[in-house]
Amino acid sequence: MTTVLELEKLTKTYMMGAVPVEALRGVSFVVNQGELVSVLGPSGSGKSTLLNMIGALDHPTSGTLRIKGVDVSSLSDNKLAETRRNIGFVFQFFNLIPRLNAQANVELPLAIGGVSRKERKARAEDALRSVGLGDRMTHKSAELSGGERQRVAVARALVTEPSFLLMDEPTGNLDSKTAQEMIDLVVDLNSKKHVTVIIVTHDAEVAARTRRTLRMRDGLIVSDEVN
Ligand SMILES: Nc1ncnc2c1ncn2[C@@H]1O[C@H](COP(=O)(O)OP(=O)(O)OP(=O)(O)O)[C@@H](O)[C@H]1O
Ligand SMILES: [Mg+2]
Repeated sequence: MTTVLELEKLTKTYMMGAVPVEALRGVSFVVNQGELVSVLGPSGSGKSTLLNMIGALDHPTSGTLRIKGVDVSSLSDNKLAETRRNIGFVFQFFNLIPRLNAQANVELPLAIGGVSRKERKARAEDALRSVGLGDRMTHKSAELSGGERQRVAVARALVTEPSFLLMDEPTGNLDSKTAQEMIDLVVDLNSKKHVTVIIVTHDAEVAARTRRTLRMRDGLIVSDEVN
């Protein structure tokens, strides 16, 4: 089994002026290729902080973080940006560009990566079809429902074929039926396309749909269970 992610005693302390805030207090776990993992915990337990570290968006204070065997805990900002290309992000607030249509939004990470126009188009179309939006490619994001917007965000995260997909409360802004459909999609992408997914949530129902759940409290993982 290929390991995509390894954390060893990872900590993150934010300084609020002179006051340290220990958001992560020593987190260790391993995620293998193809896993679907949820991170469940109350507000303030450190879930987003953890995701930001895994996503190479910020430096940990101490400990080791390996992405596909590469220790990224002490990389320079430039190298960190390179690592980030291996990672797909989906956020609570979709973060699409409103005046671009679905296809152009999904093509964006490829445009930054210097892929030819023809290939960009083909790959964006594939990604949109894989999230069930083959018939919405030319809709601007304002012309899409919340659930559809989040699907576009998933397609955009997948179009670069990342090592893993990180989702921070992807259902937080969706009604319960649409949230259910989003989780169905994630479960489907994981089982059919073997996309490795780490999904942060404070919703136990969402967590129950994933194979493995890490529970967080006060900056620590307090349990690691198979559902
Ligand atoms: N940039 C920051 N500077 C200072 N403190 C921070 C910063 N980001 C987070 N914190 C603090 O770290 C702790 C963990 O925050 P984090 O955002 O990781 O929680 P969370 O589990 O994602 O919560 P939520 O469910 O509300 O999103 C909190 O006490 C928070 O106030
Ligand atoms: Mg959060």
